[in-house]
Amino acid sequence: MKCNAFSKDSLNFPDNFIWGTSTAGHQVEGGNEFSDWWAWEHEGLIEDGTVSGRAMDYWNRHEEDHALMAKLAYKGFRLGIEWARVEPQKDRFDCDVVEHYRRILQSLRKHGFKICLTLHHWVLPRWVAEQGDWLNPDTVDHFMRYAKFVINELGTFPDYWVTMNEPMVPAIMGNLLGKFPPQRRSIRAYRAVSRAYLRAHARTYHLIHKMHPLAPDGNPSRVGVAMAYPWIEPWNSPGPAGWYERFTASIARRVAFEGWDHTISTGKPHWIHGGPAIADIKNSYDYCGINYYTRVSLKYDQRRREQYWIDDTKAAPGIDVTQMGWQIYPEGLYRTIRSVWKLFGKPILITENGIADDTDRQRPRYIVEHLAQVHRAIREGIPILGYFHWSFIDNFEWREGFAKRFGLIAVQHDDPDLTRAPRRSAYLYSDIAQKNAVTRETVETYAPEAVATVFGD
Ligand code: BGC
Repeated sequence: MKCNAFSKDSLNFPDNFIWGTSTAGHQVEGGNEFSDWWAWEHEGLIEDGTVSGRAMDYWNRHEEDHALMAKLAYKGFRLGIEWARVEPQKDRFDCDVVEHYRRILQSLRKHGFKICLTLHHWVLPRWVAEQGDWLNPDTVDHFMRYAKFVINELGTFPDYWVTMNEPMVPAIMGNLLGKFPPQRRSIRAYRAVSRAYLRAHARTYHLIHKMHPLAPDGNPSRVGVAMAYPWIEPWNSPGPAGWYERFTASIARRVAFEGWDHTISTGKPHWIHGGPAIADIKNSYDYCGINYYTRVSLKYDQRRREQYWIDDTKAAPGIDVTQMGWQIYPEGLYRTIRSVWKLFGKPILITENGIADDTDRQRPRYIVEHLAQVHRAIREGIPILGYFHWSFIDNFEWREGFAKRFGLIAVQHDDPDLTRAPRRSAYLYSDIAQKNAVTRETVETYAPEAVATVFGD
């Protein structure tokens, strides 16, 4: 049978498709004590009253975790480096920390995993935050020194580089909506921070190519961003409320990703971010990283002044939602892939996709239905390199603390042993990775309710 063929009984993926899982340093490592998030958590701002603390102790248990991934036949791993660990105080680069990261990466290599490495996933060293974070004009230069140090020390490992994870999320959540540190509510701050991220990304992109032009397989290095693409739609209420919803949805898309994408694809700053031209930003992607979770429907609500009179939590009747209250909308992944491909024409890596589901009742269906949409895009000829499920393991879910569980592997954060317990979905994903296919048999075993949607019966 041809690869990526579609039969009545199997969705076959291309040879060398990477079946990976994703994490971020702060969410799993533990002990990121010199960071802005750590300080913020200790102000009692986390919804379930927890702090990241030792998190999943991946810092010390990485070997055990990698062995488990290998046992499950996963093929790739996405992890992050924490700036606050590497440079806990201004100009003090911690060599022990870098050696530790080197051991982690060596272990991944030893197991034969494809490595996707994130240089920045929202969290800053506290000293950077105290100096005005990304609003301080010097921060991009500081970030570049950190990036240069890491690229120099660890640059031989990554098969894929992520310069930044979802830069627009902290720009929005931390600067426009006041829900993440530093809790600003300012359009001006959102714009300035976005411009700083764009500059830092462009410079990091070129720095990696200069310092490490080749990836471990001998091909040119592959550098990109893991971009959050919620599928944003207006609720379409009748009358003026509907007009406001449509207007807000079009602005929200620009704020969340279209502005950023426009700047990268054309090289000209989008008006939503403004500012002068950014050197060498055009086409600063070798691949497009897509983080996709949900559809967001924007509904007018006059009580939500702090959210610009928009409620983004409602789902139409009949639409399933996750433990986060997020709509399950697999087709949004296909639609996102198509529009990203149309805009950039570059290979695509699904850098995140997953679901908070403590009981693992929804996850199997979520996985196979989203993979069916990935396969649909592949059948149309769109080059998709791999899929990294978020997340390998339960972790610290930012403002929500440990209560929301995204892991294929369950861990109770208050279990003194932090025992790793694979959920059923971990075996489902293992089965898919081993077969390089989503077969009817697998879907019947793990998510019988999804057979019809996956195979179009
Ligand atoms: C982020 C992750 C987060 C996940 C689930 C993504 O936006 O990159 O850090 O845990 O979504 O909320």
